[in-house]
Amino acid sequence: MAKLIGGITTSHIPAIGNAMANKLEQDPYWKRFFDGYEPVKEWLAEKQPDIAIVVYNDHGLNFFLDKVPTFALGCAKTYENADEGWGLPSSTNFEGDEEFSWHLANSLVEQEFDITTCQEMLVDHGLVVPMGLMWRHLGHWPVKVIPLAVNTVIQPLPSAKRCLDLGRALGKAIASYPEDKKVVIIGTGGLSHQLQGERAGIIDVDYDLECMEHIISDPDWLARQSHSEIIEKAGTEGIEVIMWLVMRGALPAKVNALHKHYHAPISNTGAGVLLLENPDAA
Ligand code: DHB
Ligand code: FE
Repeated sequence: MAKLIGGITTSHIPAIGNAMANKLEQDPYWKRFFDGYEPVKEWLAEKQPDIAIVVYNDHGLNFFLDKVPTFALGCAKTYENADEGWGLPSSTNFEGDEEFSWHLANSLVEQEFDITTCQEMLVDHGLVVPMGLMWRHLGHWPVKVIPLAVNTVIQPLPSAKRCLDLGRALGKAIASYPEDKKVVIIGTGGLSHQLQGERAGIIDVDYDLECMEHIISDPDWLARQSHSEIIEKAGTEGIEVIMWLVMRGALPAKVNALHKHYHAPISNTGAGVLLLENPDAA
């Protein structure tokens, strides 16, 4: 049976991709931020997962404003990255696991989450930057990748509660896969940031830290909040934190929080890292 061994949260800012491409990890601006990933990299090296489900939002590379699915699951053999205009080098391709993807798709639809299935999908910085943070030092991608795109870009967005519920359905879908596979799930984006308008640049450190604590022990606290409540505190793009709820919902109610790290600002954003282990798989 497939086992979800843990969940990870991370920012996905393109500037991080630039810092990795230019090897700035030891630069004073970046050092503390990158140091926050070392325990996660060590845990991944020890646990050797087979599959990573990456929950991210497409920022206009694969879906543009004319067609935006609420939830879209990659069901392809491989996924390509492409130039988004951030000056990032394009990543090598990511290998998928079609059988596992279709199992998730079937199970989610059966559980009344009518997701979009994508047999071709370009993946943007929302997925590529987190993959680099976890595994770039290896020089290859050691896991098969399942992209799960959540619309956080154009109204109407899914509610925070809907994202938590999707995660719970995903947890059941993973657990019902008949082959032995070790799975990790990565919730990307957030924490507070707003990239345009009068409040551009706002970061609410207290709210970010509250979100991190509640993601660990009481995700329903965040799931009860409306988009307006989240955006008022965390900024318009801070709404990306709802994707952390998809990650969290897939894990059991009680998790082992093995690592937490917060650094602000990176670019315009509060950057939070969590490593949550599934106690049933520890
Ligand atoms: C930034 C943050 C994001 O989430 C993103 O998608 C692009 C840019 C930023 O802070 O620069
Ligand atoms: Fe983003």
